[in-house]
Amino acid sequence: MTADTALKHDPLIANALASEKQRQQDQIELIASENIVSPAVRAALGHEMSNKTLEGYPGKRFHGGGEFVDVIEQAAIDRAKELFGAAYCNVQPHSGAQANQAVFFSLVEPGDRILSLDLAAGGHLSHGARPNLSGRWFKAHHYSVGRETGTLDYDQIEAQARKVKPILLIAGGSAYPREIDFARMAAIAKAVDARFLVDMAHIAGLVAASVHPSPLPHADIVTCTTTKTLRGPRGGLILSRSNEHAAQLQSAVFPGVQGSLHSNVLAAKAVCLGEALEPSFKTYGRQVQANARALAEALIARGVNIVSGGTDTHMVLLDLSSAGINGTAAEQALAAANITSNKNPVPFDSPKPSEWVGLRLGTAAATTRGFDEAAMRQVGGLIADLIGAAAAAGNLEDVAENARAQVAKLTDNFPA
Ligand SMILES: Cc1ncc(COP(=O)(O)O)c(C=O)c1O
Repeated sequence: MTADTALKHDPLIANALASEKQRQQDQIELIASENIVSPAVRAALGHEMSNKTLEGYPGKRFHGGGEFVDVIEQAAIDRAKELFGAAYCNVQPHSGAQANQAVFFSLVEPGDRILSLDLAAGGHLSHGARPNLSGRWFKAHHYSVGRETGTLDYDQIEAQARKVKPILLIAGGSAYPREIDFARMAAIAKAVDARFLVDMAHIAGLVAASVHPSPLPHADIVTCTTTKTLRGPRGGLILSRSNEHAAQLQSAVFPGVQGSLHSNVLAAKAVCLGEALEPSFKTYGRQVQANARALAEALIARGVNIVSGGTDTHMVLLDLSSAGINGTAAEQALAAANITSNKNPVPFDSPKPSEWVGLRLGTAAATTRGFDEAAMRQVGGLIADLIGAAAAAGNLEDVAENARAQVAKLTDNFPA
C-alpha cells in the first residue's frame, strides 16, 4: 500500500506528504546536507520492522523476537566496516549529534578541554558550541581558518593545541569545503597527547566513493551521519580502525545516551551501505565532486566570492560580504526561483544568524537526480543572476521569473 492510499483517512498529513514530494520534484535542492534516498532505502524505512522494540546488541538483546533485526544490524555493521576499512562500527546512533555525544561519553569527562573547528569557520554545533550540551559540559576551545586563505592553518592549530592541551581534538564540520589533512591533525593530537575524533558527516559518501581521503587510518574514532553524501536514512555511525575503544563506545551508545534502537532505520542503513559498496557509487561520488567544482567555477566566473576560492568536496560556500546582500536575502532570492539553499556564517562572521553573509550550496541531491556539470554551470549562472538582482533591489521578480522557467526545464529533464 502506498502512502497515498494508506492515508486517505488523514487528509491533512496526506496532503502535506504529497506536497513535499511535489516540492522535491519542482525545486533544485542545493542544501549541502540533503540527498534523495533510493526506493529501497525508503521501503526499508516504511517497513513493519519499525514495530519492533529492542535494546542491546545482536545476540545480546533485552527483548525477545529480535532474530531478524540481528541479521540486519550485523549486515549494516559488516557493510560499514567493509566500506570504510574499519575494525569497529556501531550503527545504532539515532543521529550524528548522538554519535558525537556517545564519543564524548566514552572519552571525556565534564569540565575537560576539547578543541574543534569554530562554528563560523564551518564547525558543528555538537563539537562544543555554546548553545549545545557539548558546549556546556566541556571547556570548548576552537581553531579557525586563515583569514586570507579560508583554509585550515595547521601550524596555527598546532600552536593552539600546545597551549590548550585538549583531551580531545576534533576535525570535520558542516561548512568546510576543502580537503582536511587528517594525518597532520593526527600528528597534532599525538604531540599534545589528545585523542583524535573526525566527524566526517558531510563527506562520508565522498570517502566511501574514494574521492576524498579517508580519516580512518588517522583518527582514534570517526563519526558520521548516513544522510548527506552517503545518501541514506537519517542517523549516525561510529567507526574506528581498531577495537581499542569498542567496549566503551558500545556502552556509551546503549545504555549511555540512547535507549531502544530504531530497527527500520538500521535496515535502511544496511541498504544504503550496500548501495555505497556498488561500483556505481564511485561514479556518483566523482560526479558530486565534479558538479561542485563546475558550480564554483561558474560562480567565480561571474564575480561571486567563494570561501577558500573553490571546493574539494560537494560543498560551495559563498561569501556575500562584498555583494551587498546577506545570507537571508540570498536564500530568499534563490527560493523565488525554486532553488533551495541555506544562509550560513562565513569565517569570522557575526554570531547573529540574521547578519550572516554566507550562503551554503551542495551538489549531492542534484547529482542523484542526474544533474551534470553543464546543468550545474547553468544553475551557477542563475544563482549569480539572482544574487545580482537581489543586491540591486529592483528587478528581482523579472530575473526570478526567467530563472524559474529554466529551473522548471531542468527539474523536468532530471526527475527526482
Ligand atoms: C559535521 C556534522 N556533525 C553532526 C551533524 C549532526 O547530525 P544530525 O543532524 O543527524 O544530528 C551534522 C549535521 O548536519 C554535521 O554536519
